[in-house]
Amino acid sequence: MKQMTLAQARLFEKNQESQILPEERPVFHVTPTIGWLNDPNGFSIYQGEYHLFYQYYPYDIHWGPMHWGHLKSKDLIRWERLPAALAPDAVYDAQGVFSGSAIELPDGRQLLMYTGVQGQDNTSACHQTQCIAIGDGINYTKYEHNPVITVDAIPETCYDKDFRDPKIWWEQEEHCYYAVAGVRVADQSGAVALFSSENGLAWKYVNILDYCQNEYGRMWECPDFFEIGDKAFLIISPQEMRAQGLTFHNGNDVVCLMGTYDRKHHQFTREQAGAVDYGLDFYAPQTIKTADGRRVLIAWMQAWETSHLCPQGAKWNGQMTVPRELIFDHGQLLQQPVQELAAYRRHPVVYTEVPFQTRTSLSGVLGRVLDMTVKVRPEQEGSLEHFTIRLTADESHDVSVTYEPARGTVCLDRTNSGFRYNIITKREAPVKDQGGRIDLRIILDRFSIEVFINGGEQVMSACIYTPQEADQIFFEAKGSGWFDVEKYDIVLDS
Ligand code: FRU
Repeated sequence: MKQMTLAQARLFEKNQESQILPEERPVFHVTPTIGWLNDPNGFSIYQGEYHLFYQYYPYDIHWGPMHWGHLKSKDLIRWERLPAALAPDAVYDAQGVFSGSAIELPDGRQLLMYTGVQGQDNTSACHQTQCIAIGDGINYTKYEHNPVITVDAIPETCYDKDFRDPKIWWEQEEHCYYAVAGVRVADQSGAVALFSSENGLAWKYVNILDYCQNEYGRMWECPDFFEIGDKAFLIISPQEMRAQGLTFHNGNDVVCLMGTYDRKHHQFTREQAGAVDYGLDFYAPQTIKTADGRRVLIAWMQAWETSHLCPQGAKWNGQMTVPRELIFDHGQLLQQPVQELAAYRRHPVVYTEVPFQTRTSLSGVLGRVLDMTVKVRPEQEGSLEHFTIRLTADESHDVSVTYEPARGTVCLDRTNSGFRYNIITKREAPVKDQGGRIDLRIILDRFSIEVFINGGEQVMSACIYTPQEADQIFFEAKGSGWFDVEKYDIVLDS
C-alpha cells in the first residue's frame, strides 16, 4: 500500500476545505475538515484550551486508512480547525492510526496515545498495539520506542487484532498515569484492560476492569473510565450487541456500566448497566473533566451500519454530538448540553400555557439551528393520549418526537427526513411516569436532532439530511392540557 504522509494530508485538506461552504455544515457540531470523520479522539484540555481530535480520512467521504483530524476550542461550542495531527506513516501504524486519547505532560507538551494498526484488517496478520506521539498542540512526533504496549502484556488474551482505543488519565493522589483499552479474552468477547505508567511512556499491565462474557455484545471498543462522586462509570462501545427491550439495540451500541471502584486493588464492581443514548446515531463517546470539575462527554453522532449512506455529492461525512455534561443525581446519570451553549442563544420566543390542539404552529417558532424546550402539562392524569412535535417540516418532510404517556415512551421518527435508504428510522426511549407531564429539550443543528428528555434522563440523537428549507415546527396533541415553549436560535457570529 502507498504510504500516506501527514504532509500530503495537510496539503490536501488545506486545498479542499474551502470546497465546503459554511452553510453546508452544522453551525456548532464538529465535522471533518474534509472527507470522513468517526470517533472523537484525544478529547482533552491543553494549555487552557479544549482539544478534540477525530478518526479522519480526508481523501474520501468513506472510511479509509485512519488519520487524526484536529480542532481546538475555548468553550466547546466554537471550534477552530487545526491541521491534521497524525497520519498512518509508521511501520506499526501503516494500516491506520486508530482511536485514542490525549493529556498534557508536566513539561508543557501534549501526549497522544493511540492504537497503531499494522497488517491486513481482519486477518491473522493484523496487529493492534498502543503507541504514543508527543507535540506542542499542532505538530506531533511519534515516539521512537513505539509501540509502548502490545497484547503480550495482558495474560488474559492473545488476540492482537482486537486491542485498541486507549483512554489515558492522570491520578493526582497516586502520581501516576492510567489507561484503559478494549481487548478480547478467551471466550472471544470483550474486556477492558487497565494499565499504569509513571511517565506516560513506559506502561505496565494492571488487570482487567470488567469482562463482557458475551453479555453486552462481543468486542468492547472505546472504553472510558471515570468517577463522579462515589460512583465509578465504565462507558464502553460494544460491537454485535443483542437488543434488550428499549434499552439496548442490535449492532454497535453504547453501554454505561455503573459501579464502585476500589482504588487500592483496582477492582471495579459493576452494579448496573444502562443505555447512554436511545437515538439512532451515537457511538464511541469520550469524556473529559473540565477545570471547574464537570464531566463532559462527546460522541460520534452516527451509526456504523448506516455511515456509508450519505447524501449524493456530500463533501463531508460524520459529525459529533453537542458536548454534554454528565450529572449524577439520585442514582441516575443525566446528560445536558454543556452550559456554554447558553451564551449563543439568540432571539428568544416564549409561549406559556398554549392549549393542546390537534395541530398548531406558533409564530416565531421555526428554524433549523435552535435550542427549544417544550413542557407538556396535561389537564389531569390520563387526559393526554399523545403529544407530537414535528420539526424540520414542509409539505413532504418532517422529523417527529412523540410522547405517549400510556406507553411511557418517547419516539423519535425520521422516516420523512429525506433519507432515501432502507434504514432504521425510528427508535423509542422509555420515560418515567409523571402523570403525563414531560419536558423535552430539542437541539437542532441543520443535519441533526438531539432530544434531552426530563432534564437529560434519556437522550435521543440522530442525523437528518432534510432539505434546509424544511424549517417549520408543528405541535400536535390528542387530549386536554397545555404546553410551554421556550425557543432560541443558536447563532455563532455575533
Ligand atoms: C470505533 C472504532 C474503534 C477504532 C476506530 C477505527 O468506532 O472501531 O475501535 O479505533 O473506530 O476508526
